[in-house]
Amino acid sequence: MSDRIERLGIVGVGTMGTGIAQVAATAGCTVRLFDAAPGAVARALDRIQAALTRAVDRGRLTAEERDQALARLQPAADLVALADAEVVIEAVVEREETKAEVFRALDQCVAPEAVLASNTSSISITRLAAATRRPERVVGMHFFNPVPVMRLVELVRGLHTAESTLATARQLAVQLGKTPVEVRDYPGFVSNRLLMPMINEAAFALMEGVASAEAIDQVMVLGMNHPMGPLALADLIGLDVCLDIMRVLHQGFGDDKYRPCPLLVNLVAAGHLGRKTGRGFYTYEQPGESGASARAAQPAPEDEPQGGT
Ligand code: CAA
Repeated sequence: MSDRIERLGIVGVGTMGTGIAQVAATAGCTVRLFDAAPGAVARALDRIQAALTRAVDRGRLTAEERDQALARLQPAADLVALADAEVVIEAVVEREETKAEVFRALDQCVAPEAVLASNTSSISITRLAAATRRPERVVGMHFFNPVPVMRLVELVRGLHTAESTLATARQLAVQLGKTPVEVRDYPGFVSNRLLMPMINEAAFALMEGVASAEAIDQVMVLGMNHPMGPLALADLIGLDVCLDIMRVLHQGFGDDKYRPCPLLVNLVAAGHLGRKTGRGFYTYEQPGESGASARAAQPAPEDEPQGGT
C-alpha cells in the first residue's frame, strides 16, 4: 500500500473538479485549485461551502469539520502553484487539445515523480500521456456525477502507466472514500461504452415514438431498478457531453452501432443541453448543474414522437 496522499492539485473547477475538491478536502487532503477562467475558483469555493454547510445542517459533518475542510482548499494563481502536489487531477473541458495542453504545462511545473491524472470520461489516456515526458506517471481517474454521492472511480491504465502510478491513484481513490475499478484505455473505457449506447438508444426510442420520455425512463427505473431513467440521466450529465462521447465511440471503434441519434444531435444544436440550460429531454424550473436542486418537469411537447416513420 502506498503512503497517504496529502497534497492534491486540481485543474479545472467545473462540476466535476469542484466535486472532487470537496470530497478531497473533506477527506483531509490539502487541495490547490486552478482554473484558467477568471472567478471560477471563487465560485467553486462558494459551491463547496454551501454543500458542506448543507451537510452540517443534515448532521453529516460538524461545523468544525466543515471549517477544517474549507481551510484545506487553496486557490492557485497559476499552475506553478501546484508544483509540490503529489497528484494533480485534471478536470478541464472534454476537448483533447485543451487537456493535452494542460498535461504539457503540468509536466513542466510539477515535480517529476508526481502523478498526473485525468478525469476524462472518454479521451485516450495514452494520447494525453504522450504530451508529457512522464507517460508512466499518467493515469485516468474517472469520477462520476454527483461526485460526493457516487462511489466509483474508474482507474484507467494507459499503455505506459506504471504499476506504482496505478497504486498511487488507487490509494487516493480509497482515501476519498471511493471504490477504484481498473480498466484499460479503450474508447469510453467501460462506464461510457455501456452507458452511452443505452442513453443513445433511449433517444432513438423517443425519436421513433416508441414511448414518451417519461415512459422510457419509467421502464428503466421501475423495471431495472435504475435510480433514474436514461433520458433524465442524460439531462444530468449534459447532452453535449453525451454527444461528444458517442462521437468518440463512433470514431474510436469505426462501428455504426455507435452512431449518435439525430434527436440528440438536434437537441445539442438547439442549445438544449439538459439541466444546465434548463432544458434537454425534459424542461426544468431552474437551470442548474447539480443534481439535488433541479427538478424534472414535463417532457417538452416537441420531444414527443418526432421524426418517426
Ligand atoms: N451533491 C451532493 N449530494 C447530492 C447531490 C449532489 N449534487 N445530489 C444528491 N445528493 C445526495 C442527497 O443529499 C441525498 O443524500 P442523503 O440521502 O444522505 O440525504 C442523496 O444524494 C439522494 O439524493 P436525493 O434524495 O435528492 O435524490 P435521489 O435519491 O433521486 O438521488 C441521485 C439523486 C444521487 C442523482 C440519483 O438519482 C442517482 O444516483 N442517479 C444516477 C446518477 C448517475 O448515474 N451518475 C453517473 C453519471 S455518468 C458520469 O458522471 C460520468 C460520465 O462520464 C458521463
